[in-house]
Amino acid sequence: MNLSPPRGTRDFFPEDMRLRTWLFGHFREVARLFGFEEYDAPVVESAELYVRKAGEEIVDQLYTFQDKSNRDLALRPEMTPSLARMVLQKGGALGLPIKWFSLPQCWRYERMTRGRRREHFQWNLDVFGVDDVTAEAELLAALVTLFQRLGLGAEDIAIRLSNRRLLQAVLADAGVADALFAPVCVLIDKLEKIPRETVEAELQSLGVDPGVINRVLQVASCTSLHEARGLIGSGDNGLDEIQRLMDLGAAYGFADWLRFDPSLVRGLAYYTGTVFEAFSTQGELRAICGGGRYDRLLSTFGGKDVAACGFGFGDAVIVELLKDKGLLPDLPAAVDDVVFAFSEELRGPAIQVTRSLRAAGRSVDLILEEGKRMKWAFRHADGAGAARLVLLAPEEWARGVVKVRDLVSGEEHEVTPEELVS
Ligand code: HAM
Repeated sequence: MNLSPPRGTRDFFPEDMRLRTWLFGHFREVARLFGFEEYDAPVVESAELYVRKAGEEIVDQLYTFQDKSNRDLALRPEMTPSLARMVLQKGGALGLPIKWFSLPQCWRYERMTRGRRREHFQWNLDVFGVDDVTAEAELLAALVTLFQRLGLGAEDIAIRLSNRRLLQAVLADAGVADALFAPVCVLIDKLEKIPRETVEAELQSLGVDPGVINRVLQVASCTSLHEARGLIGSGDNGLDEIQRLMDLGAAYGFADWLRFDPSLVRGLAYYTGTVFEAFSTQGELRAICGGGRYDRLLSTFGGKDVAACGFGFGDAVIVELLKDKGLLPDLPAAVDDVVFAFSEELRGPAIQVTRSLRAAGRSVDLILEEGKRMKWAFRHADGAGAARLVLLAPEEWARGVVKVRDLVSGEEHEVTPEELVS
């Protein structure tokens, strides 16, 4: 039998789990600092939740199956549809706005590259009910706070920023119908990954003039808001919103992390306004996180739309980046005390000592093996990362004391069980 986990998935041995817990601790703490509440949903959802017809990669990558009642189900590839479903389910009973976060494991049958696998955990932060870039600004502030806590600065990370209304304005000028907006966005996003002729052919099959790409590329190559304004003029094209978000970024102190990048579209169909992705400035890795505004997702599920925006931040690329930069913490195993009884007659007292230490809140590893020697106990305590080794020996116990060895300083003392706890 092959003992590896399925390709693209991971086992989490205790040392891996320590790293995951450390990273999730930062995710949770930043969410708390920004007043987001945690939610969760099932990892298995109805497949129809993800059936979107815009040609997105994420839909092709679905893990789908039928259960024993022939229900069509899927492993969630992302959290946003589940969140939208939950918001719709509560309807008017939900006091808006809401700021919610989650840490779901997501599944995509993905082509594997560094930092991309078939399952990942994704920190999601979303705001529902705020129709203003103040929400995006707060999301980006949380994102930057997270990076800073991990030891990364504006010299390490660039947040590419655009607004889909810019592309919408270009497409409207070219006579592209509103109904085609989402599939055309998904195609334009593919320009970086597949040959231009393929994108052109697919545009044509949607009934869109392939020449539209020229105009899109012209706008996408703008390097400043000023230049983009010069090219497409004023109107409802998202440029003012980007400017406002940048101004808010200055108030929060993260303006220097932002890069206006009109070539950014994102590959998910549902975005309607701001879109952003964070990258390493060294450029070798794929996006660290991505998100944006999706004000019209609820109506695609038959509900009434509510303004919404958010982002997803995976646990894979960030770890690669921290590894490259030497910023991964050293996280050894750690317990407070190891308790060792020299002889089996002292197991009862050793259990008593262990119980009182645990009742006082200390983490204790009681040696369970019989007949082990002192040297073995020391090695074991070292491997467990213990701060102290507590020894119960017949002669000392007869005097009502135990031996405590401080494993950092090497000092040894005799103390009563009461003193041990205090
Ligand atoms: P996404 O861009 O598909 O957006 O994924 C967001 C992030 O999840 C990526 O930037 C990356 O960190 C991580 N990620 C995605 N796929 C993989 C993979 N195969 N392996 C490792 N990491 C991966 C969404 O999922 C949107 N639902 C985000 C969102 C939330 N938008 C609004 N709210």
